[in-house]
Amino acid sequence: MRFIRKMLITAFLLGMAAVAFTPPLRAEVNGPKIFGKTAGGDMIEEYTLTNANGVKLKLITLGAAIAELHVPDKAGKIADVVLGFDDVAGYESDQNQYFGCTTGRYANRIAKGKFTIDGKEYQLAVNNGPNHLHGGVKRSLDKVVWKAEVLKPENVVRFTYESPDGEEGYPGKLDLAVTYTLTDRNEVRIDYKAMTDKATPINLTNHSYFNLSGAGAPSVLDHELTLAAEQYTPADADLIPTGKIEPVTGTPLDFMKPTKLGARIEPLLKTQFQGYDHNFVLTKRGAAPTFAARLRDPMSGRVMTVLTTQPGIQVYTGNFLKGQKGKGGKTFPKQSAVCLETQHFPDAMNHKGFPEVILRPGQTYRHACIYAFSTE
Ligand code: GLA
Repeated sequence: MRFIRKMLITAFLLGMAAVAFTPPLRAEVNGPKIFGKTAGGDMIEEYTLTNANGVKLKLITLGAAIAELHVPDKAGKIADVVLGFDDVAGYESDQNQYFGCTTGRYANRIAKGKFTIDGKEYQLAVNNGPNHLHGGVKRSLDKVVWKAEVLKPENVVRFTYESPDGEEGYPGKLDLAVTYTLTDRNEVRIDYKAMTDKATPINLTNHSYFNLSGAGAPSVLDHELTLAAEQYTPADADLIPTGKIEPVTGTPLDFMKPTKLGARIEPLLKTQFQGYDHNFVLTKRGAAPTFAARLRDPMSGRVMTVLTTQPGIQVYTGNFLKGQKGKGGKTFPKQSAVCLETQHFPDAMNHKGFPEVILRPGQTYRHACIYAFSTE
């Protein structure tokens, strides 16, 4: 009896010790380092998170953006799978189409840049045909310098930015925090949080362009996509939702089963979308991130699974990429990458029946998105 008790106690203590000595599931963080200087003279910092499997995530304070993301292929070979630039000048140039950035205050489009809250009409900049896109012109969230800090012992990088009342025409002082985590399970997790002092629309996302064969590979159309979306929001000639929600069945937007991005893109190339540039309605959302999408590159065997708490995902096949030169002298032609932007629906404040996007004082906006990497 006594022997058994002793054995049990020893086993318990050994178990406790094992738990205590299990290495943390988080990456190591290196930074801040200087990434460069903006034309306006602001220092831009970089932070690099590296995990036990060699996955490396480089973040910069300009736009709280992902500048590099290195992940292994099926043979263990590491490649950077996101588009970007080597220097600040690249990010500040007109060649930068929101590469890797935090997008907002309202990611995606707002019809004519107009909305009304509690009877008051607001007019934002019109910067995409007749519409507002991705938060505005000069002080959208991708163009501002965020403050960064490494949180210990969590080993995460948190970016914060206080957007003043009226910035880019949006009401309310908005306090923003975007936290990046890299785990040893090869997951990049992004947690967004915001609070306001006046009712204001909000829709944050990350605008990374992925090519799982490596940034600079000529096309993404061989990648196979699966979406947890039975419906989408049809849009007009300027990509503004009509307000309807329709089934994807029988259209080129049906990705309920794994399908190559290029398999049915042809008829879309001649439309206003010029490829995939659609908001999908995700099924079954909850407070914890739930499966939204799976992207697989048969060549490299790399797989990226996307989980989110958001009701929508914009699938954009880089239709407006123009062969610009990016990192390492690589060029990024049309449809050489895909963005999977977890978000609220475009122009949601102007459509009854779309999920609510107005944040009010006292409330907290939260959004979590996980990009998980594996191989097959
Ligand atoms: C998006 C939009 C696209 C395009 C890109 C940026 O995700 O949906 O139409 O504007 O951003 O080039």
